[in-house]
Amino acid sequence: TSNKMWGGRFSAGPDAIMEAINASISFDKRMAAQDIAGSRAHAAMLAATGIIKTNDAEAIREGLLTVLSEIEGGTFEYSAALEDIHMNVEARLKEVIGEPAGRLHTGRSRNDQVATDFKLWVRDQFDAAEESLLALIRALLAQAEAGADWVMPGFTHLQTAQPVTWGHHMMAYVEMFGRDLSRMRDARARMNECPLGAAALAGTSFPIDRDATAKALGFDRPSANSLDAVSDRDFALEFLGAASICAMHLSRFAEELVIWSSAQFRFVALSDRFSTGSSIMPQKKNPDAAELIRAKIGRIFGANVALMMVMKGLPLAYSKDMQEDKEQVFDAADNLMLALAAMEGMVRDMTGNRENLAAAAGSGFSTATDLADWLVRVLGLPFRDAHHITGSLVGVAEAQGCDLPDLTLDQMQAAHAGITEGVFDVLGVDNSVNSRMSYGGTAPAQVRAQIARWKEVLE
Ligand code: ARG
Repeated sequence: TSNKMWGGRFSAGPDAIMEAINASISFDKRMAAQDIAGSRAHAAMLAATGIIKTNDAEAIREGLLTVLSEIEGGTFEYSAALEDIHMNVEARLKEVIGEPAGRLHTGRSRNDQVATDFKLWVRDQFDAAEESLLALIRALLAQAEAGADWVMPGFTHLQTAQPVTWGHHMMAYVEMFGRDLSRMRDARARMNECPLGAAALAGTSFPIDRDATAKALGFDRPSANSLDAVSDRDFALEFLGAASICAMHLSRFAEELVIWSSAQFRFVALSDRFSTGSSIMPQKKNPDAAELIRAKIGRIFGANVALMMVMKGLPLAYSKDMQEDKEQVFDAADNLMLALAAMEGMVRDMTGNRENLAAAAGSGFSTATDLADWLVRVLGLPFRDAHHITGSLVGVAEAQGCDLPDLTLDQMQAAHAGITEGVFDVLGVDNSVNSRMSYGGTAPAQVRAQIARWKEVLE
Protein backbone atom coordinates (compact mmCIF):
# COMPACT_ATOMS: atom_id res chain seq x y z
CA THR A 1 0.00 0.00 0.00
CA SER A 2 1.15 3.52 -0.69
CA ASN A 3 2.30 6.00 1.94
CA LYS A 4 -0.60 7.47 3.88
CA MET A 5 1.02 10.91 4.11
CA TRP A 6 1.92 11.47 0.47
CA GLY A 7 0.78 8.39 -1.41
CA GLY A 8 -2.21 9.87 -3.27
CA ARG A 9 -0.60 9.62 -6.68
CA PHE A 10 1.10 6.29 -5.98
CA SER A 11 -0.36 2.86 -6.63
CA ALA A 12 2.50 0.83 -5.13
CA GLY A 13 4.48 1.16 -1.90
CA PRO A 14 8.25 1.62 -1.84
CA ASP A 15 10.76 -1.17 -2.29
CA ALA A 16 12.35 -2.30 0.97
CA ILE A 17 15.67 -0.84 -0.19
CA MET A 18 13.95 2.46 -1.00
CA GLU A 19 12.52 2.51 2.50
CA ALA A 20 15.94 1.71 3.98
CA ILE A 21 17.76 4.50 2.16
CA ASN A 22 14.94 6.99 2.68
CA ALA A 23 14.08 6.55 6.35
CA SER A 24 15.70 8.87 8.87
CA ILE A 25 13.62 7.94 11.90
CA SER A 26 16.43 5.86 13.44
CA PHE A 27 18.33 9.07 14.11
CA ASP A 28 15.98 12.03 13.73
CA LYS A 29 13.83 10.74 16.59
CA ARG A 30 16.29 12.72 18.68
CA MET A 31 14.39 15.81 17.52
CA ALA A 32 11.00 14.61 18.81
CA ALA A 33 10.69 17.28 21.50
CA GLN A 34 11.66 20.01 19.03
CA ASP A 35 9.21 18.68 16.45
CA ILE A 36 6.35 18.73 18.94
CA ALA A 37 7.27 22.21 20.17
CA GLY A 38 7.28 23.44 16.56
CA SER A 39 3.92 21.83 15.86
CA ARG A 40 2.38 23.30 18.99
CA ALA A 41 3.53 26.79 18.04
CA HIS A 42 2.26 26.29 14.49
CA ALA A 43 -1.16 25.00 15.60
CA ALA A 44 -1.62 27.84 18.10
CA MET A 45 -0.79 30.35 15.36
CA LEU A 46 -3.20 28.68 12.90
CA ALA A 47 -5.99 29.09 15.45
CA ALA A 48 -5.04 32.67 16.37
CA THR A 49 -5.14 33.70 12.71
CA GLY A 50 -8.44 31.89 12.14
CA ILE A 51 -6.92 29.43 9.67
CA ILE A 52 -8.14 26.49 11.77
CA LYS A 53 -10.82 26.33 14.46
CA THR A 54 -9.90 26.87 18.09
CA ASN A 55 -11.32 23.51 19.16
CA ASP A 56 -9.24 21.73 16.49
CA ALA A 57 -6.13 23.55 17.69
CA GLU A 58 -7.01 22.55 21.25
CA ALA A 59 -7.36 18.90 20.23
CA ILE A 60 -4.03 19.10 18.40
CA ARG A 61 -2.35 20.62 21.45
CA GLU A 62 -3.72 17.93 23.79
CA GLY A 63 -2.85 15.21 21.32
CA LEU A 64 0.71 16.44 20.85
CA LEU A 65 1.19 16.42 24.62
CA THR A 66 -0.02 12.82 24.71
CA VAL A 67 2.38 11.87 21.92
CA LEU A 68 5.22 13.64 23.72
CA SER A 69 4.52 11.73 26.92
CA GLU A 70 4.47 8.46 24.97
CA ILE A 71 7.86 9.33 23.46
CA GLU A 72 9.31 10.35 26.80
CA GLY A 73 7.84 7.26 28.46
CA GLY A 74 9.39 4.99 25.86
CA THR A 75 6.08 3.51 24.68
CA PHE A 76 5.99 5.26 21.29
CA GLU A 77 6.33 2.87 18.36
CA TYR A 78 8.51 4.33 15.63
CA SER A 79 7.87 3.22 12.08
CA ALA A 80 10.44 3.30 9.28
CA ALA A 81 7.59 3.27 6.76
CA LEU A 82 6.68 6.70 8.10
CA GLU A 83 10.21 7.84 7.21
CA ASP A 84 10.99 10.48 9.78
CA ILE A 85 10.09 11.99 13.12
CA HIS A 86 7.76 14.52 11.52
CA MET A 87 5.48 11.93 9.94
CA ASN A 88 5.76 9.53 12.85
CA VAL A 89 4.47 12.20 15.22
CA GLU A 90 1.71 13.33 12.86
CA ALA A 91 0.52 9.77 12.15
CA ARG A 92 0.33 9.01 15.87
CA LEU A 93 -1.49 12.29 16.46
CA LYS A 94 -4.08 11.12 13.93
CA GLU A 95 -4.54 7.87 15.86
CA VAL A 96 -4.94 9.77 19.12
CA ILE A 97 -7.23 12.66 18.06
CA GLY A 98 -8.57 11.67 14.64
CA GLU A 99 -9.62 14.17 11.98
CA PRO A 100 -8.23 17.46 13.44
CA ALA A 101 -4.70 16.00 13.14
CA GLY A 102 -4.99 16.41 9.38
CA ARG A 103 -5.33 20.17 9.80
CA LEU A 104 -1.97 20.64 11.54
CA HIS A 105 0.05 20.61 8.32
CA THR A 106 -1.86 23.59 6.85
CA GLY A 107 0.52 26.25 5.54
CA ARG A 108 3.54 24.15 6.45
CA SER A 109 5.87 21.70 4.75
CA ARG A 110 8.29 19.17 6.11
CA ASN A 111 10.96 21.40 4.59
CA ASP A 112 10.39 24.33 6.91
CA GLN A 113 9.43 21.90 9.67
CA VAL A 114 12.72 20.02 9.58
CA ALA A 115 14.75 23.23 9.29
CA THR A 116 12.95 24.58 12.36
CA ASP A 117 13.33 21.38 14.39
CA PHE A 118 17.00 21.07 13.53
CA LYS A 119 17.68 24.70 14.36
CA LEU A 120 16.04 24.25 17.75
CA TRP A 121 18.20 21.19 18.35
CA VAL A 122 21.44 22.87 17.25
CA ARG A 123 20.60 25.97 19.28
CA ASP A 124 20.49 23.82 22.41
CA GLN A 125 23.94 22.52 21.50
CA PHE A 126 25.33 26.03 21.26
CA ASP A 127 23.97 26.63 24.75
CA ALA A 128 25.37 23.35 26.07
CA ALA A 129 28.78 24.09 24.55
CA GLU A 130 28.73 27.49 26.19
CA GLU A 131 28.02 25.94 29.60
CA SER A 132 30.75 23.34 29.19
CA LEU A 133 33.29 25.90 28.00
CA LEU A 134 32.54 28.12 30.98
CA ALA A 135 33.08 25.20 33.35
CA LEU A 136 36.37 24.33 31.66
CA ILE A 137 37.56 27.93 31.78
CA ARG A 138 36.76 28.06 35.50
CA ALA A 139 38.79 24.89 36.08
CA LEU A 140 41.73 26.40 34.19
CA LEU A 141 41.49 29.62 36.18
CA ALA A 142 41.69 27.63 39.43
CA GLN A 143 44.86 25.92 38.18
CA ALA A 144 46.31 29.23 37.03
CA GLU A 145 45.60 30.85 40.35
CA ALA A 146 47.19 28.02 42.34
CA GLY A 147 50.36 28.11 40.25
CA ALA A 148 50.57 31.71 39.06
CA ASP A 149 54.26 31.86 40.04
CA TRP A 150 55.35 28.25 39.49
CA VAL A 151 58.13 28.21 36.93
CA MET A 152 58.25 25.68 34.12
CA PRO A 153 59.97 25.49 30.76
CA GLY A 154 58.27 27.20 27.86
CA PHE A 155 58.86 25.42 24.57
CA THR A 156 59.17 26.15 20.91
CA HIS A 157 59.69 23.16 18.60
CA LEU A 158 59.17 21.21 21.86
CA GLN A 159 62.73 22.33 22.73
CA THR A 160 63.29 24.33 25.90
CA ALA A 161 62.94 28.00 24.98
CA GLN A 162 62.43 30.33 27.96
CA PRO A 163 61.02 29.83 31.44
CA VAL A 164 57.32 30.58 31.78
CA THR A 165 54.87 30.21 34.61
CA TRP A 166 52.35 27.40 35.06
CA GLY A 167 49.68 30.04 35.46
CA HIS A 168 50.67 31.60 32.16
CA HIS A 169 50.42 28.26 30.38
CA MET A 170 46.96 27.60 31.85
CA MET A 171 45.84 31.09 30.88
CA ALA A 172 46.92 30.49 27.28
CA TYR A 173 44.19 27.84 27.13
CA VAL A 174 41.73 30.18 28.82
CA GLU A 175 42.25 32.55 25.88
CA MET A 176 41.68 29.75 23.36
CA PHE A 177 38.55 28.41 25.03
CA GLY A 178 37.40 31.99 25.52
CA ARG A 179 37.52 32.49 21.76
CA ASP A 180 35.63 29.22 21.33
CA LEU A 181 33.01 30.55 23.70
CA SER A 182 32.70 33.75 21.72
CA ARG A 183 32.46 31.81 18.44
CA MET A 184 29.61 29.73 19.87
CA ARG A 185 27.76 32.81 21.12
CA ASP A 186 28.33 34.65 17.88
CA ALA A 187 27.01 31.82 15.71
CA ARG A 188 24.05 31.25 18.02
CA ALA A 189 23.00 34.88 17.70
CA ARG A 190 23.25 34.71 13.90
CA MET A 191 21.28 31.48 13.53
CA ASN A 192 18.34 32.54 15.68
CA GLU A 193 15.88 33.19 12.85
CA CYS A 194 12.83 30.99 12.41
CA PRO A 195 12.29 29.07 9.13
CA LEU A 196 8.75 28.00 10.07
CA GLY A 197 6.24 29.38 7.57
CA ALA A 198 8.64 29.25 4.64
CA ALA A 199 6.56 26.16 3.80
CA ALA A 200 7.94 24.02 0.95
CA LEU A 201 10.06 26.82 -0.55
CA ALA A 202 7.85 29.71 -1.66
CA GLY A 203 5.90 30.69 1.42
CA THR A 204 2.16 30.10 1.67
CA SER A 205 -1.12 31.65 0.58
CA PHE A 206 -2.58 31.19 4.06
CA PRO A 207 -2.55 34.34 6.22
CA ILE A 208 -0.02 32.90 8.69
CA ASP A 209 1.71 34.94 11.38
CA ARG A 210 5.39 34.12 11.24
CA ASP A 211 6.28 36.59 13.96
CA ALA A 212 4.04 34.69 16.36
CA THR A 213 5.62 31.28 15.72
CA ALA A 214 9.12 32.75 15.76
CA LYS A 215 8.45 34.34 19.11
CA ALA A 216 6.79 31.25 20.58
CA LEU A 217 9.88 29.19 19.73
CA GLY A 218 12.36 31.69 21.14
CA PHE A 219 13.66 32.96 17.81
CA ASP A 220 14.54 36.63 17.37
CA ARG A 221 12.59 36.93 14.12
CA PRO A 222 11.34 34.91 11.15
CA SER A 223 13.88 34.30 8.40
CA ALA A 224 13.39 36.78 5.58
CA ASN A 225 13.58 34.59 2.49
CA SER A 226 11.59 31.38 2.19
CA LEU A 227 13.96 29.80 -0.34
CA ASP A 228 16.91 30.48 1.90
CA ALA A 229 15.04 29.38 5.00
CA VAL A 230 14.53 25.80 3.78
CA SER A 231 17.94 25.57 2.04
CA ASP A 232 20.12 26.98 4.79
CA ARG A 233 22.30 24.71 6.87
CA ASP A 234 24.86 27.39 7.73
CA PHE A 235 23.85 27.13 11.37
CA ALA A 236 24.87 23.47 11.45
CA LEU A 237 28.11 24.22 9.61
CA GLU A 238 28.91 27.08 11.94
CA PHE A 239 28.34 24.79 14.89
CA LEU A 240 30.62 22.17 13.33
CA GLY A 241 33.21 24.83 12.49
CA ALA A 242 33.24 26.23 16.00
CA ALA A 243 33.21 22.69 17.38
CA SER A 244 36.16 21.74 15.16
CA ILE A 245 38.30 24.64 16.32
CA CYS A 246 37.35 23.95 19.92
CA ALA A 247 38.17 20.25 19.50
CA MET A 248 41.51 21.25 17.99
CA HIS A 249 42.28 23.27 21.12
CA LEU A 250 41.19 20.37 23.30
CA SER A 251 43.41 18.09 21.29
CA ARG A 252 46.50 20.27 21.67
CA PHE A 253 46.00 20.47 25.41
CA ALA A 254 45.34 16.73 25.59
CA GLU A 255 48.61 16.13 23.74
CA GLU A 256 50.45 18.24 26.30
CA LEU A 257 48.85 16.32 29.15
CA VAL A 258 49.96 13.04 27.59
CA ILE A 259 53.52 14.35 27.36
CA TRP A 260 53.48 16.01 30.78
CA SER A 261 52.20 12.91 32.55
CA SER A 262 54.92 10.65 31.08
CA ALA A 263 57.69 9.29 33.29
CA GLN A 264 60.20 11.31 31.28
CA PHE A 265 58.49 14.64 32.05
CA ARG A 266 56.52 14.15 35.27
CA PHE A 267 55.19 17.72 35.08
CA VAL A 268 51.75 16.64 36.14
CA ALA A 269 49.95 13.82 37.91
CA LEU A 270 46.55 12.99 36.46
CA SER A 271 44.01 11.73 38.94
CA ASP A 272 43.02 8.08 39.16
CA ARG A 273 39.52 9.14 38.21
CA PHE A 274 40.70 10.15 34.74
CA SER A 275 43.29 7.45 34.12
CA THR A 276 43.27 3.74 33.36
CA GLY A 277 45.58 0.83 34.08
CA SER A 278 47.12 -1.87 31.96
CA SER A 279 46.00 -5.49 32.06
CA ILE A 280 49.61 -6.73 31.84
CA MET A 281 51.91 -3.97 33.15
CA PRO A 282 51.10 -3.36 36.81
CA GLN A 283 52.97 -0.05 37.02
CA LYS A 284 50.93 1.64 34.30
CA LYS A 285 48.66 4.62 34.71
CA ASN A 286 47.56 5.68 31.27
CA PRO A 287 46.13 9.06 30.24
CA ASP A 288 43.34 7.49 28.17
CA ALA A 289 40.91 10.36 28.63
CA ALA A 290 43.47 12.77 27.21
CA GLU A 291 44.20 10.45 24.32
CA LEU A 292 40.52 10.08 23.46
CA ILE A 293 40.02 13.84 23.65
CA ARG A 294 42.98 14.15 21.29
CA ALA A 295 41.28 11.75 18.91
CA LYS A 296 37.82 13.38 18.95
CA ILE A 297 38.92 16.15 16.61
CA GLY A 298 38.99 13.51 13.86
CA ARG A 299 35.28 12.77 13.88
CA ILE A 300 34.24 16.34 14.64
CA PHE A 301 36.27 17.80 11.80
CA GLY A 302 35.14 14.86 9.67
CA ALA A 303 31.52 15.85 10.30
CA ASN A 304 32.33 19.42 9.31
CA VAL A 305 33.88 18.32 6.02
CA ALA A 306 31.13 15.78 5.34
CA LEU A 307 28.31 18.30 5.71
CA MET A 308 30.19 20.90 3.68
CA MET A 309 30.47 18.31 0.91
CA VAL A 310 26.76 17.43 1.16
CA MET A 311 25.75 21.07 0.82
CA LYS A 312 28.20 22.43 -1.71
CA GLY A 313 26.50 21.29 -4.91
CA LEU A 314 22.82 21.56 -3.97
CA PRO A 315 20.63 23.78 -6.10
CA LEU A 316 17.96 25.71 -4.21
CA ALA A 317 15.82 24.80 -2.43
CA TYR A 318 15.43 21.57 -0.42
CA SER A 319 17.00 18.33 -1.64
CA LYS A 320 16.90 15.04 0.22
CA ASP A 321 20.68 15.17 0.46
CA MET A 322 20.08 17.52 3.36
CA GLN A 323 18.69 14.69 5.46
CA GLU A 324 22.35 13.64 5.82
CA ASP A 325 22.99 16.71 7.96
CA LYS A 326 21.72 15.31 11.24
CA GLU A 327 23.87 12.30 12.01
CA GLN A 328 27.02 14.35 11.46
CA VAL A 329 25.90 17.08 13.80
CA PHE A 330 24.51 14.67 16.40
CA ASP A 331 27.76 12.73 16.52
CA ALA A 332 29.94 15.83 16.58
CA ALA A 333 27.86 17.46 19.33
CA ASP A 334 27.82 14.31 21.49
CA ASN A 335 31.55 13.93 21.24
CA LEU A 336 32.35 17.59 21.74
CA MET A 337 30.29 17.68 24.95
CA LEU A 338 31.96 14.51 26.18
CA ALA A 339 35.43 15.83 25.39
CA LEU A 340 34.74 19.16 27.09
CA ALA A 341 33.43 17.44 30.21
CA ALA A 342 36.37 15.03 30.32
CA MET A 343 38.86 17.86 29.92
CA GLU A 344 37.19 19.85 32.66
CA GLY A 345 37.37 16.84 34.98
CA MET A 346 41.02 16.19 34.19
CA VAL A 347 41.99 19.82 34.68
CA ARG A 348 40.12 20.03 37.99
CA ASP A 349 41.76 16.88 39.31
CA MET A 350 45.31 17.20 37.99
CA THR A 351 48.26 18.13 40.18
CA GLY A 352 51.14 20.08 38.77
CA ASN A 353 54.49 18.88 40.17
CA ARG A 354 56.04 22.17 41.23
CA GLU A 355 59.54 20.77 41.93
CA ASN A 356 59.82 18.92 38.64
CA LEU A 357 58.48 21.90 36.74
CA ALA A 358 61.06 24.17 38.38
CA ALA A 359 63.91 21.73 37.80
CA ALA A 360 62.98 21.43 34.13
CA ALA A 361 62.62 25.21 33.87
CA GLY A 362 66.26 25.70 34.86
CA SER A 363 67.72 23.15 32.48
CA GLY A 364 68.32 23.38 28.76
CA PHE A 365 69.93 26.87 28.95
CA SER A 366 66.47 28.36 29.30
CA THR A 367 67.81 31.73 30.50
CA ALA A 368 70.18 32.26 27.56
CA THR A 369 67.93 35.03 26.25
CA ASP A 370 68.08 36.73 29.66
CA LEU A 371 71.88 36.63 29.47
CA ALA A 372 71.87 38.15 25.99
CA ASP A 373 69.39 40.82 27.12
CA TRP A 374 71.69 41.63 30.09
CA LEU A 375 74.66 42.17 27.73
CA VAL A 376 72.52 44.62 25.76
CA ARG A 377 71.03 46.41 28.75
CA VAL A 378 74.13 46.63 31.01
CA LEU A 379 77.04 46.63 28.57
CA GLY A 380 75.26 48.38 25.72
CA LEU A 381 76.15 45.70 23.14
CA PRO A 382 74.13 45.34 19.94
CA PHE A 383 71.70 42.40 20.34
CA ARG A 384 73.30 40.39 17.54
CA ASP A 385 76.73 40.54 19.27
CA ALA A 386 75.13 39.67 22.60
CA HIS A 387 73.41 36.71 20.92
CA HIS A 388 76.74 35.48 19.58
CA ILE A 389 78.60 35.82 22.90
CA THR A 390 75.79 34.06 24.73
CA GLY A 391 75.84 31.28 22.16
CA SER A 392 79.53 30.73 22.80
CA LEU A 393 78.86 30.51 26.56
CA VAL A 394 76.09 27.95 25.94
CA GLY A 395 78.71 25.99 23.99
CA VAL A 396 81.11 26.14 26.94
CA ALA A 397 78.43 25.01 29.39
CA GLU A 398 77.30 22.22 27.10
CA ALA A 399 80.86 20.94 26.70
CA GLN A 400 81.22 20.98 30.45
CA GLY A 401 77.84 19.31 31.06
CA CYS A 402 76.48 22.13 33.22
CA ASP A 403 73.90 24.91 32.95
CA LEU A 404 74.60 28.64 32.44
CA PRO A 405 74.41 29.63 36.15
CA ASP A 406 77.10 27.01 36.90
CA LEU A 407 79.76 28.79 34.78
CA THR A 408 82.38 30.81 36.68
CA LEU A 409 82.83 34.56 36.31
CA ASP A 410 86.23 33.84 34.71
CA GLN A 411 84.60 31.72 32.04
CA MET A 412 82.06 34.47 31.46
CA GLN A 413 84.74 37.11 31.15
CA ALA A 414 86.67 34.98 28.68
CA ALA A 415 83.70 35.44 26.38
CA HIS A 416 83.40 39.18 27.11
CA ALA A 417 85.71 41.07 29.47
CA GLY A 418 83.01 43.49 30.59
CA ILE A 419 80.80 40.86 32.25
CA THR A 420 80.38 41.32 36.03
CA GLU A 421 78.91 39.33 38.97
CA GLY A 422 75.56 41.02 38.36
CA VAL A 423 74.95 38.76 35.38
CA PHE A 424 74.19 35.83 37.69
CA ASP A 425 71.05 37.61 38.90
CA VAL A 426 69.35 37.20 35.54
CA LEU A 427 70.35 33.55 35.10
CA GLY A 428 67.86 32.34 37.70
CA VAL A 429 64.48 31.23 36.39
CA ASP A 430 62.47 33.21 38.96
CA ASN A 431 64.20 36.42 37.95
CA SER A 432 63.67 35.50 34.36
CA VAL A 433 59.89 35.13 34.62
CA ASN A 434 59.53 38.07 37.00
CA SER A 435 61.28 40.31 34.50
CA ARG A 436 58.79 39.55 31.71
CA MET A 437 56.38 42.24 32.76
CA SER A 438 55.32 43.35 29.28
CA TYR A 439 51.53 43.24 28.81
CA GLY A 440 50.51 39.62 28.31
CA GLY A 441 53.94 38.41 29.45
CA THR A 442 54.67 35.48 31.74
CA ALA A 443 55.50 37.44 34.93
CA PRO A 444 53.28 36.24 37.81
CA ALA A 445 51.98 39.80 38.25
CA GLN A 446 50.83 39.84 34.62
CA VAL A 447 49.29 36.39 34.96
CA ARG A 448 47.39 37.44 38.07
CA ALA A 449 46.12 40.52 36.26
CA GLN A 450 44.76 38.30 33.47
CA ILE A 451 43.16 35.93 35.96
CA ALA A 452 41.42 38.90 37.59
CA ARG A 453 40.26 40.19 34.20
CA TRP A 454 38.78 36.81 33.29
CA LYS A 455 37.04 36.48 36.62
CA GLU A 456 35.40 39.82 35.99
CA VAL A 457 34.39 38.77 32.48
CA LEU A 458 32.78 35.61 33.85
CA GLU A 459 30.73 37.40 36.48
N1 ARG B 1 13.46 13.72 6.88
C1 ARG B 1 13.64 14.88 6.06
C2 ARG B 1 14.99 15.54 6.42
O1 ARG B 1 15.54 15.14 7.39
C3 ARG B 1 12.54 15.84 6.29
C4 ARG B 1 12.21 16.72 5.13
C5 ARG B 1 11.59 15.96 4.04
N2 ARG B 1 11.09 16.81 3.03
C6 ARG B 1 10.80 16.32 1.84
N3 ARG B 1 10.37 17.14 0.95
N4 ARG B 1 10.94 15.06 1.57
O2 ARG B 1 15.49 16.38 5.73
